[in-house]
Amino acid sequence: MSAEETLAQIAKEVSTCRKCALYHSRKLSVPGEGPANSEIMFIGEGPGFYENEQGRPFVGAAGNFLNELLAEAGLKRSDVWIGNVVKCRPPGNRDPLPEELSACDEYLERQIAAINPKIIITLGRYSMGKYMPGAKISSTHGQMRRVGDRFVIAMFHPAAALHQVALKPAIMKDFAQLPKLLEQARAALKRSVPSAAEEPKEDPKQLSLF
Ligand code: URA
Ligand code: SF4
Repeated sequence: MSAEETLAQIAKEVSTCRKCALYHSRKLSVPGEGPANSEIMFIGEGPGFYENEQGRPFVGAAGNFLNELLAEAGLKRSDVWIGNVVKCRPPGNRDPLPEELSACDEYLERQIAAINPKIIITLGRYSMGKYMPGAKISSTHGQMRRVGDRFVIAMFHPAAALHQVALKPAIMKDFAQLPKLLEQARAALKRSVPSAAEEPKEDPKQLSLF
C-alpha cells in the first residue's frame, strides 16, 4: 500500500471507530490531513467544536492562528500534515483521558509510520507527553530533539497562546526558527527525498519466496 492509501485507510477506520467512549459524542471524527510525503507533522490535542462539525483539524480560532504561524515559518497548510492525538472530540472540549489516548494512539502511530516525517511538532501537553514525558513546555519549547529516526520539537498550543498573550512572542519565534531547523533535520537525517517517493525496491514476488 502506498502512503496515501494507508492514510486513506486509516481515515476510513477512524470514521467508524468505537474503540473508546469518545465515539458517543463525536459528530465527525477528525483523522488529520496533509500530504503523505510531509516533512513536518503537527500533532495537537483533539478536535474542538468546529473540527467536530467539519471533520477537519484546526479549523477554528486556534486553526486560524496556526495558519498565521505557518506563514511565519514560510509554510502553507498544504505543505504539512496536521492532526491530533485523539481523533474524536472530547465532550465540552475536556482533556482526553488516558484510556482514550491509548486507544487512539494506534492510528497516530500508523500515520507517522506511513508519512515518516523528519520533524514532529507537538502542540500542547498531550502530544508532548508522548515524546517527552515529564518535560516542562516552558523550558523545552522550540528545541529540536532527536527521537529515533526523526526529530521532535515541542511548541506551545496555539489555543494557549491565544488565551495567554504573554506566550505569543515565544510561539511566533519558535515558528520563525522552523526553516532553519528543517534544514538541520534534513542534513542530519540525510534523507531529503520525500518519503512517498521512496517505494520499496524489492520485488514483492521475490519476498514471497521466503
Ligand atoms: N485544537 C487541537 O488540539 N486540535 C484541533 O484540531 C483543533 C484545536
Ligand atoms: Fe476511535 Fe480515537 Fe475516536 Fe476513540 S478517539 S473512538 S479511539 S478514533
